[in-house]
Amino acid sequence: MLSAQTMHPASRPCRPSRPSLSIKSSSSGAITAFRSRGGSFFGGARALCACSRMRATRRGRLVVAVRCSKVAILGASGGIGQPLALLLKMNKNVTDLALYDIANTAGVAADLSHCNTGVKVTGYTGEEEIGGALAGAQLVVIPAGVPRKPGMTRDDLFSINAGIVKSLVEACSKHCPGAVLNIISNPVNSTVAIAAEVLKKAGVYDPKKLLGVTALDVVRANTFVAEAKGLDVKDVDVPVIGGHAGITILPLLSQVSPSVSFTSSEIEGLTTRIQNAGTEVVEAKAGAGSATLSMAYAAARMAESTLLGLKGESNVMECAFVESKVAEGLSYFASKVVLGPNGVADIPPLPALSPYEQQCLDKLIPELAKSEAKGVAFASA
Ligand SMILES: NC(=O)c1ccc[n+]([C@@H]2O[C@H](COP(=O)([O-])OP(=O)(O)OC[C@H]3O[C@@H](n4cnc5c(N)ncnc54)[C@H](O)[C@@H]3O)[C@@H](O)[C@H]2O)c1
Repeated sequence: MLSAQTMHPASRPCRPSRPSLSIKSSSSGAITAFRSRGGSFFGGARALCACSRMRATRRGRLVVAVRCSKVAILGASGGIGQPLALLLKMNKNVTDLALYDIANTAGVAADLSHCNTGVKVTGYTGEEEIGGALAGAQLVVIPAGVPRKPGMTRDDLFSINAGIVKSLVEACSKHCPGAVLNIISNPVNSTVAIAAEVLKKAGVYDPKKLLGVTALDVVRANTFVAEAKGLDVKDVDVPVIGGHAGITILPLLSQVSPSVSFTSSEIEGLTTRIQNAGTEVVEAKAGAGSATLSMAYAAARMAESTLLGLKGESNVMECAFVESKVAEGLSYFASKVVLGPNGVADIPPLPALSPYEQQCLDKLIPELAKSEAKGVAFASA
């Protein structure tokens, strides 16, 4: 599981640390939790779901009301889907994990279900089974679609992935209209607009519940800045704003926590590397796909933060591509958002940008506007 320690400080939720708990039935039949020592996460059924609510009885016992947290992954057999499923199988905030794909889901689900954690895993294959995967889901993570090959931009994926995202979000609007959606499928700068239009058409659009996943840009920025400055990566937080493609990815190196200073050439070098990090992986994989393991890590972090927000944790923040008024002339924009019980609870205004960052922002806005318009046009056709 991604522990709070592995998150950047701004997204680290304020969680009270508790001893592990085991569960027993009281004479009244209520499920009662007792504190125990040394429980291991891989203790499976002994690990108490973190989304459970506890209250003390008059006799000083802790009574537990177990709530379900069902997460569905659409595209679960793929390069991102499989490691993401494994990370979520290890996450105490998840009770049920539904794996959906057009192929190979039964094998992935059977394999994963043998891991002795408390998360129940089910597999669903093909359109006729998608309703079962989505029913009752609080969070749907969508990495379905084709990845890039060397020489391709994310926009080159539009012709295939736009249709995939459209049909999957249509299914979400029907089977889990209240769920939060985390969209990974590229081009995110367009697929989020497509998803919004589909949900609007179905009459179930809630802008607080639709998030494009840009967490990988933050994960990469944190890693590269920590390496460049000799910092412990677990302490580093680099906000990344804009979108998720090329120059639309804008790391705010003037806002790094802890405060660090960069030369102009360091700023330009790091900004370019963060913008091209996906291409670095695509080229290294030489035709075998794009980032999968780091993406699964980033998606698991985003899913965990979303679930913590849904269960009422405070101070949960992530950068995400959401409906936003932060940038003039755009409907969707990535920036830090506060995650709460209904999805996005707040979108703080942008901090003061450096002149270099302001220049980059001015350049990326027309790019984002084009991608947004392309998505809206596709969904409305
Ligand atoms: N947001 C990001 O930061 C980010 C980072 C990396 C990759 N991506 C994107 O994630 C997507 C998936 O990448 P991958 O490497 O896992 O690809 P992959 O080809 O390994 O896996 C994609 C999976 O989607 C499934 N799929 C295809 N059509 C489907 C449908 N209609 N319904 C359900 N499942 C369907 C495939 O069967 C496959 O298992 C790509 O679009 C890629 O560009 C996004």
